[in-house]
Amino acid sequence: MTDKRVWFITGAGRGMGVDFAKAALAAGNAVVATGRNPEAVRTAVGDAEDLLVVRLDVTSTEDVEAAVKAAVDRFGRIDVLVNNAANFYGGYFEELTPAQIEDQLATGLLGPMNVTRAILPVMRQQRSGHMSISSGAGLSGFEFNSAYCAAKFGLEGWMEALQPEVAPFGISTTIVNPGFFRTDLLTQESTSYATPTIADYAGRHAERVQWYESMNGQQEGDPAKLARALLTIVGQEQPPRRFLAGADAIAIAEQKAKDLQQQANALRDLSTSLARDDA
Ligand SMILES: NC(=O)c1ccc[n+]([C@@H]2O[C@H](COP(=O)([O-])OP(=O)(O)OC[C@H]3O[C@@H](n4cnc5c(N)ncnc54)[C@H](OP(=O)(O)O)[C@@H]3O)[C@@H](O)[C@H]2O)c1
Repeated sequence: MTDKRVWFITGAGRGMGVDFAKAALAAGNAVVATGRNPEAVRTAVGDAEDLLVVRLDVTSTEDVEAAVKAAVDRFGRIDVLVNNAANFYGGYFEELTPAQIEDQLATGLLGPMNVTRAILPVMRQQRSGHMSISSGAGLSGFEFNSAYCAAKFGLEGWMEALQPEVAPFGISTTIVNPGFFRTDLLTQESTSYATPTIADYAGRHAERVQWYESMNGQQEGDPAKLARALLTIVGQEQPPRRFLAGADAIAIAEQKAKDLQQQANALRDLSTSLARDDA
């Protein structure tokens, strides 16, 4: 049993998960850094006394159970879960295959649920934090992102509903909405595009792919700074339910708030006329 706070991070072999693990260790926490390829995690995060590297594919409930058991065996507790692992399927809905959509949901939505389900029994025994990395695409629907948005919107609905369920146990939940951060997400290792099959979409499909490819390596956000921001949040007496990470994420949220307000006002009379006459 350690007296340090224990972070459990998914997808810690590449991308911002590596920064989260390094920052948490540097701040004096114990870290369970997980990934599909433990060697890659070990190489990326480096050696540290209070580091446990465990194999974990978030789509495998066997992996999840084994990883949580290994974490509890080693450290006796889990204080902060960071559901970070995800992939990105870009494409128009009609061109994405059912298998691609299923994989997007399995990794981006059901994966965090799998990990959380296994960790909540541990967390109910102590005051804990739980955060899931969503996206600007969890706030607003973007063309060419129908599968990714479905996963991230699902993640947000689940997290918002989970919050009052677990709050009485002293467990906080935080949705993190990063804007564009410079990671591996837009590389071939993490991004798969739908195969263009429908002539009506051909021009826009090609433009979108070109745009995402051009964004790779140009994203403004610094994942090391995001990692330090997460440490700040976790250190707060009452962590926020949502953290909009980056000026671009704030702009998306502000536009969404305006859109919702405008939609509420636009048909207010019609909307408020729908009660039964005897109600
Ligand atoms: N970067 C951005 O601009 C941005 C913006 C908004 C939201 N996000 C979100 O931020 C989070 C981290 O993304 P990132 O930008 O760091 O992407 P990344 O560089 O592509 O890293 C993704 C990580 O997820 C892991 N992963 C993928 N599928 C997995 C699975 N089935 N089981 C376990 N691990 C798996 C990858 O491991 P492998 O090496 O095994 O593939 C990798 O470590 C994601 O939730 C993403 O949606 C990123």
